Amino acid sequence: MSALLAIDDLVVDYRLRRRSRFRALKGVSLSVGPGECVGLVGESGSGKSTLGKAVLGLATVTSGQIMFDGQDVTHLRGAARRRLANDIQVVFQDPYGSLDPTMTVGEILAEPLVVAGVTQAKAVVAEMLDRVRLAADSVHRYPSEFSGGQRQRVAIARALVRRPRLIVCDEPVSALDLTTQATILDLFIDLQRETGVSYLFVSHDLGVVRRVCHRVSVMYQGEIVESGATGPVTREPVHPYTRRLLLASPVADPVRQAERRNTWLGLREPA
Ligand SMILES: Nc1ncnc2c1ncn2[C@@H]1O[C@H](COP(=O)(O)OP(=O)(O)OP(=O)(O)O)[C@@H](O)[C@H]1O
Ligand SMILES: [Mg+2]
Repeated sequence: MSALLAIDDLVVDYRLRRRSRFRALKGVSLSVGPGECVGLVGESGSGKSTLGKAVLGLATVTSGQIMFDGQDVTHLRGAARRRLANDIQVVFQDPYGSLDPTMTVGEILAEPLVVAGVTQAKAVVAEMLDRVRLAADSVHRYPSEFSGGQRQRVAIARALVRRPRLIVCDEPVSALDLTTQATILDLFIDLQRETGVSYLFVSHDLGVVRRVCHRVSVMYQGEIVESGATGPVTREPVHPYTRRLLLASPVADPVRQAERRNTWLGLREPA
């Protein structure tokens, strides 16, 4: 299977004050096939969002390459980058921050279509609301009038209106309670089956990744330390850091949780 997204040896430096820089990605390689969900897990600050931003053209790449559907998109700017937005969309953790509170859901969903000159905007908006299982009359309501889970459905619908081939999902369920998380993750899975869209799925939670991803890469301090099929990596991780991550994800049983915590404390920081 040829990759839809192929990232090769990607380095991203953030410029800090006084000419110093911080290397957030240190040569990351990763691929996402058509219709595939690839997870990116790692603790806070490991560089997950930076990789997502680089794919979206929101972080400047120092070296390495990002190929999308056979095209080098590493340094695309201006009109070419805007055209790529039809193919690559994003869903963030916080739909409050990413949805304009002064616009109705109908306006939010229609906006990219109107900009693109689509004439059947109303019909597409209705189709997308249906896809994300929101009532048709949601078009008249404002983001603040929805629950967190429903707002995330709006954000997903907005990502879908341009019929993208890849969606970068950056912690899309992290702000939701566990039950709502499960229904939104199921929605991601259903949408992938229905549309064939690919996901680069960023999460700090191995449990979340296990539910939706086919493959997973584990990031640690700007590098991928382990990758493979989701089952083996999340059940029997090889790298000590992944094992720590696995043990750090909470379980419901307090006795098992205490055991896991002791095991976790017994594992030393990877060098
Ligand atoms: N604009 C920026 N300027 C300077 N440093 C940055 C910038 N954005 C991120 N960083 C740094 O780069 C590193 C990686 O950040 P990134 O946001 O990619 O982490 P993350 O894995 O997404 O973390 P989290 O799970 O908390 O979202 C962090 O050390 C962060 O402080
Ligand atoms: Mg992040």
